[in-house]
Amino acid sequence: MRQSLSTCGDCGKGGTTDADMKPGKFITVEGIEGVGKSTNIAALVARIEAAGHKVLTTREPGGTPFAEDIRDILMNRSDEPLPEVAELLMIFAARSLNVNNVILPALEAGTWVVCDRFTDSSRAYQGGGRGLPMETIDRLADWVHGDTWPDLTILLDAPVEVGMARAGTRGAPDRFELERHDFFERVRECYLQIAANEPERFVVIDTTRSIEEVRDHIGAIIEGLLNDNLL
Ligand code: TMP
Repeated sequence: MRQSLSTCGDCGKGGTTDADMKPGKFITVEGIEGVGKSTNIAALVARIEAAGHKVLTTREPGGTPFAEDIRDILMNRSDEPLPEVAELLMIFAARSLNVNNVILPALEAGTWVVCDRFTDSSRAYQGGGRGLPMETIDRLADWVHGDTWPDLTILLDAPVEVGMARAGTRGAPDRFELERHDFFERVRECYLQIAANEPERFVVIDTTRSIEEVRDHIGAIIEGLLNDNLL
């Protein structure tokens, strides 16, 4: 069961307490650049709202004022080098803000949360792409958000050339988009591997299909989640 992160009253150290009895569902959307996250998140949210649920959308890195400040540092090109370890720690600092100040309060109030990227992005980009140790990433994840893992993760997948061609039409590249083709190949491979390791949480959607086909696939997945919810 998902638990909220809190501070233990007796000892002042981090601890966990039971979350609300009827929490909302936590859904994340992942994928390399240019796979159509924004369009598909809009369709996903509309489908959940049509079923009568309140939905909060957020994104990572970001989602709170402080976390958005961290996002600016991470995304903007700058003369000061950003060591990979600093990048990873900043991403998890932003995640701590988003989880504690936005995601958990919403879930505990029964609101569904759709988050554009989460810890699977850190595994794929910092682990797969940059080559940082996966054990370190998973230890940070455990420390920062405990067992707050998504109920469902939708991995939007497309070959790197397809994603890059779409992302390339969106204006000046950010710090991540400046990476080379092989970086994104490693990120994509890592995503597919993580999804294969956790089939009970992941759905992989091929976004080279038509917009309508992708939207219908997402609709069917949400239908399943909504029906589960009725049990
Ligand atoms: P986006 O929000 O436009 O998709 O861009 C966010 C960028 O941040 C994207 O290139 C992936 C990167 N990122 C990581 O490298 N690690 C992470 O944990 C997260 C959440 C994002």
